[in-house]
Amino acid sequence: MIDIHTHILHEVDHGSDNIETSLRMLAEIEATGVIDTVVLTSHFYMEEESVSEYLERYDVAFEQLTNAYTGPIKLVRGAEVKVSPYVELTRDVKKLTLGDTNYILLELPFDKRINEEWLFDTLSVLIDEYDLIPILAHVEEYNYTQKPCRLLDDLVDRGVYMHLDAVALVERRTQKMALNFIKRGYVDTIATDYHDGRRLCINEALEVVQKHLGKDTRDDIENFFRLS
Ligand SMILES: [Fe+2]
Repeated sequence: MIDIHTHILHEVDHGSDNIETSLRMLAEIEATGVIDTVVLTSHFYMEEESVSEYLERYDVAFEQLTNAYTGPIKLVRGAEVKVSPYVELTRDVKKLTLGDTNYILLELPFDKRINEEWLFDTLSVLIDEYDLIPILAHVEEYNYTQKPCRLLDDLVDRGVYMHLDAVALVERRTQKMALNFIKRGYVDTIATDYHDGRRLCINEALEVVQKHLGKDTRDDIENFFRLS
């Protein structure tokens, strides 16, 4: 399975402080036995730096890690791009897709409410003008998307993909909602969003899916993304 959302790459964001930590995190990913490919989606905040400044830092770390890591997990480039009402996304974000695909991983604002029209229009620009396929990171985490709603229906209809964090399926507080999101067709896959020190529970999450929604749904989630 491809884990499309991780913060394993060292020193690009707060996910990993150094390369030794990143190598240990990759060993932990190997031990799951289910993930064979990891996309290194370090945070990108457009209000803080340009895409080229980010890529300069990213490329150095990516080369160091791919040279140092000798295990079986395939490492793929990517980013978690913050969508902000205060900063318009530039065409340069096309350089931040997952591997060689047109998928782009987006983090939405954590505001209590959102201007839905603005969000819909922003994602439509990415789709229509930049030829990108947005994937919303951890759709269960935003205040305005924690239950089925017109915004989520409209985004799915518009061709936007969404993932849940594995933790949402494992924790009692969020499990019912997470399963409901899969049942309603909002969610396409599960990702770890793995940072050093956070819980890595992809196997438990997949087992929850299989127990409640069946093996076919689990297989769909495991096999959804192909990045070649
Ligand atoms: Fe993340």
